[in-house]
Amino acid sequence: MTELTRLFAKTKKAFDLPEGVIYLDGNSLGPMSYASRARLVDEMDNQWSKKLISGWNESGWYHLSQTVGDKIAHLIGASKGTVTAVDSTSINIYKVLNAALEMNSDRRVILSDSGNFPTDLYVAQGIIAHLNKTAAQPFSLKVVSPEQVLAAIDENVAVVMITQVDYCTGRIHPVAKIVEKAQQLGAKTILDLCHSAGALDVKIEELAVDFAIGCGYKYFNGGPGAPAFVYVRQALLDEIEPVLCGWMGHQSPFSFDGQYQPAAGINKMRVGTPSVLGLASLDAALDVWQGISLAQVRVRSIELSKLFIEEIAKRAPELELASPTDPQQRGSQVSYRFDEGYALVQALIAQGVVGDFRMPNIVRFGITPLYLDEADIIAAANKIADVLAQRLWDQPQFKVRHAVT
Ligand SMILES: Cc1ncc(COP(=O)(O)O)c(C=O)c1O
Repeated sequence: MTELTRLFAKTKKAFDLPEGVIYLDGNSLGPMSYASRARLVDEMDNQWSKKLISGWNESGWYHLSQTVGDKIAHLIGASKGTVTAVDSTSINIYKVLNAALEMNSDRRVILSDSGNFPTDLYVAQGIIAHLNKTAAQPFSLKVVSPEQVLAAIDENVAVVMITQVDYCTGRIHPVAKIVEKAQQLGAKTILDLCHSAGALDVKIEELAVDFAIGCGYKYFNGGPGAPAFVYVRQALLDEIEPVLCGWMGHQSPFSFDGQYQPAAGINKMRVGTPSVLGLASLDAALDVWQGISLAQVRVRSIELSKLFIEEIAKRAPELELASPTDPQQRGSQVSYRFDEGYALVQALIAQGVVGDFRMPNIVRFGITPLYLDEADIIAAANKIADVLAQRLWDQPQFKVRHAVT
């Protein structure tokens, strides 16, 4: 056993995974940690039930967005006080996109790419539709292919908004180059870290990205619908003016002042009362990361992904790799194209191997070192090969589409 495998054998024990299941979907919803369960039980049995409203003062609830934000900051290479854990990623995109547009008010173009996650593009479309009702000069969303983003940055671009790791293929954007060019030409930058936070060794401050957002329920294992996070570059914290002006982002919520005054620092990105139970679960899940660096996670993720790709190439060559072969260009998921991908995923779930499906034909497998090891990867590859060899996916029950794929 190497030092790394010993380290991750310990973190694996921190998760309550069902017997007989190999969970390759932590890039979509992280599994439950024992720490999250214990914390939620404590919140119910000892905090909410006993302290009632006093919990806001006595149980740390009021400051929980900041407590969790600081833990996330540590994991994405940010300073304390630059991240807060609130709302959903979509809402946080709305906040930072508006802030970025306001900072570049003489420009009209939002640049993004066709590989971006739909919600990022939808939020941009919604903001543009709203602004264009009154704007003298219309705003537009310019969507180019991922490979064309760098070349498409010019002096008309107000903000470049990209997702670092493509949710379908796992392809990584060359963020450093994109940010450098954006800065040279005066464009603001927004980075969606949903598939990077907890997967890559993100150094957000070194990258000098202006804004970042990401979610708490994937690699951070906060639980279904766990609060998301928002990061603002320290140098911009004083300058930005929130568009969602809620009382929790006021400098003094309990003065009940009739006039909005933004809080100092990252707290101005808060809006309303946060989901305390969601935050508590995420807070506890983040403690599993103590003593582990993202550099170590990345090394293991690359080792395990390489093994998975080799095993699938040997045993299930009918799956066409959709992820980059170069590990430096790939996040912590391995994706394949398969025409009957949905049915394949359902058949695999029935066999205890959990991945997921994305339109039109992408089968995704998340490789998460905190709770996966070589034995899991080999067992999963064997099951995948069996399901394909026996065409187990070719049954009507596996072709019935559920609401969530
Ligand atoms: C890249 C990316 N951005 C945004 C989102 C949406 O996050 P939320 O549902 O928290 O708004 C997701 C969800 O999977 C995602 O993968």
